[in-house]
Amino acid sequence: MINFSLFGAGRIGTLHAANIAASHPRARLAYVYDLDPTAAAVIARKYGATVAPSVDAALGDAAVDAVLIASPTNTHVQLITASARAGKAVLCEKPIDLDIELVERCRKDIAGTGVAIQIGFNRRFDRSHRAVRDSDVGAIELLIITSRDPGPPPHSYIKVSGGIFRDMTIHDFDLARFILRDDPIEEVFATGSALADPALAKLGDVDTAMVVMRAASGALVHINNSRRAVYGYDQRVELFGAKGMVQSENLRPSSVRRYDCHVTDAKDPLLNFFIERYQQSYLDELHEFIDAVAGKRRPVVGFDDGRCALLLANAALESMRSGQSVRVNLASRAG
Ligand SMILES: NC(=O)c1ccc[n+]([C@@H]2O[C@H](COP(=O)([O-])OP(=O)(O)OC[C@H]3O[C@@H](n4cnc5c(N)ncnc54)[C@H](O)[C@@H]3O)[C@@H](O)[C@H]2O)c1
Repeated sequence: MINFSLFGAGRIGTLHAANIAASHPRARLAYVYDLDPTAAAVIARKYGATVAPSVDAALGDAAVDAVLIASPTNTHVQLITASARAGKAVLCEKPIDLDIELVERCRKDIAGTGVAIQIGFNRRFDRSHRAVRDSDVGAIELLIITSRDPGPPPHSYIKVSGGIFRDMTIHDFDLARFILRDDPIEEVFATGSALADPALAKLGDVDTAMVVMRAASGALVHINNSRRAVYGYDQRVELFGAKGMVQSENLRPSSVRRYDCHVTDAKDPLLNFFIERYQQSYLDELHEFIDAVAGKRRPVVGFDDGRCALLLANAALESMRSGQSVRVNLASRAG
């Protein structure tokens, strides 16, 4: 049994709490800590956990094996560092931070602690996306990732989000690296517009973006994002290579197709947004983390994957601002 402390009892923390406490046979929710004790109490009461009065209290119990960090992004580095130093394995939501210098410092600060660190790039655990990666299309030539949200978040969120590339596209950067395996991305070109909500331009952000990247082999990656797909959460992946093509399609509640005097071949709406669409992947990422902790091995998606995704997001932002493509070197820095 792996005992967890959960930091952050908001949207994604609530989902992780349910997976830990109610869905995973080898996990137990011991403590919940949130700046808002009422939010922590709601989850703690539901799953028989204890509301921790502080981070230290949630880390201080020797019976706690692991932490799940689902608090806002600007708290992640501090909580990863404190948890690793307390000897607790860490499953931390994406992104590690918005500031690459803080990420590099955190990496140094936790080096040598030997604890398992997993970053919440849950899309790697989506069974269809994973099947794309595992398909033999021969030498990869094109990878196309479509990732469009059903609706934009409020301006209050956009202001602290770090912009579309570090907040939203970061999942797609990681998915691209996952599918390309050991073929490193070397060049990034990005552009974007504020089309759904022109007021975003005043906040220095965009809601519609395209990224083109080139890997060392010459394989090309295209990511397209929108924060307003009126027909729902649109998540598709297409991989094209010397021997063929494979596609991961959108998911629907059922596979029913309807025909009447107005429409033919009408299907259910797409599953709404990430909680529904990626439900299975969040549970499978937890399985991977628990297997890694129990087996005393590194999780398959670790701190350096979080760092590389942020480097790509930063390169995309630089490219969008300059209008030039940006060379990237994803090799680890010493230390
Ligand atoms: N992997 C994914 O698909 C996914 C989806 C959504 C969010 N996220 C990430 O998860 C994180 C949380 O996002 P959210 O949408 O759940 O946010 P949220 O605002 O819904 O919840 C955050 C919670 O953290 C609490 N909090 C604030 N400061 C805290 C602190 N110092 N310590 C402990 N708790 C604190 C807040 O009171 C709130 O309850 C973000 O980093 C976000 O990028 C990932």
